[in-house]
Amino acid sequence: MQKEIQQITTLEGAREQIDKVDSAVVELLEKRLRLVERVIDIKKRDQLPIYQPHRELEILERITNRVENDTYAQTIKEIYIEIMKSCKRLQSRYLVPYNIVLVGFMGAGKSSLGKYLSGLMEMPLVDIDELLSERMKMSINQIFDVYGESFFRKMETHAVYETSYRKNLIISCGGGVVLNPENISLLKQNGKIIWLKADAETLYNRLHTDETRPLLKNNLSVSHIDNLLSERAERYAGAADFEIDTDHLSIEEIGQQIIDFIAAQNLEK
Ligand code: S3P
Repeated sequence: MQKEIQQITTLEGAREQIDKVDSAVVELLEKRLRLVERVIDIKKRDQLPIYQPHRELEILERITNRVENDTYAQTIKEIYIEIMKSCKRLQSRYLVPYNIVLVGFMGAGKSSLGKYLSGLMEMPLVDIDELLSERMKMSINQIFDVYGESFFRKMETHAVYETSYRKNLIISCGGGVVLNPENISLLKQNGKIIWLKADAETLYNRLHTDETRPLLKNNLSVSHIDNLLSERAERYAGAADFEIDTDHLSIEEIGQQIIDFIAAQNLEK
């Protein structure tokens, strides 16, 4: 191949060859995407695991070993990582044509799980609190201090309104999103609501050094969390399509439960 390329001496000649390579690449990429769709159908039909991260690693290793010229190995690996991401996006759009909405008390792990799931399934993440913080250029604490809770709640509903009409998102909500029934009906339009449950003690252990929660800042104890939890439990339960007891689970295990939930949704159709 190298010899053949060395024989090209004009810019036009080189570009002509590049155009030919591009056509071949497009044709092959199209074929790859069709095959990925076929894989999804077969996985759905045979109820096989949807996400298999080890398979991605195997592909990358095989690809890198196939590259003849070591100078290009890293570049080709990078391109392949992007190709696989795009294929995963295609897969998630097809398998999850709705939003995965994470709700639960402060400290239940919604934001971390949101990031984890977003990477695992290549689904865009919207973290409602982060969105508000960026929009206002203030921390949640500052918004509460300067404008008060009722202003924050209005902003929160506005952000939910803007986000919930979209599809195939991971939406990580603030713990108080369930307080307004309008938020829940908006989120349910295109979403499945997952309630991440945790005991007051677990939450206390996670939150006791944290000062970013205005509602707990000056009153952080297991009994205060327990009281707030009991006030809200009914709302979380009423909103949830699926509940997960997270106290003794790792983020991977929680993620797996959500993937199993998604698989079950596909079977129900
Ligand atoms: C709140 C939870 C917070 C944040 C705000 C109010 C609540 O989000 O929206 O401090 O009422 O439970 P996290 O649950 O992400 O901490």
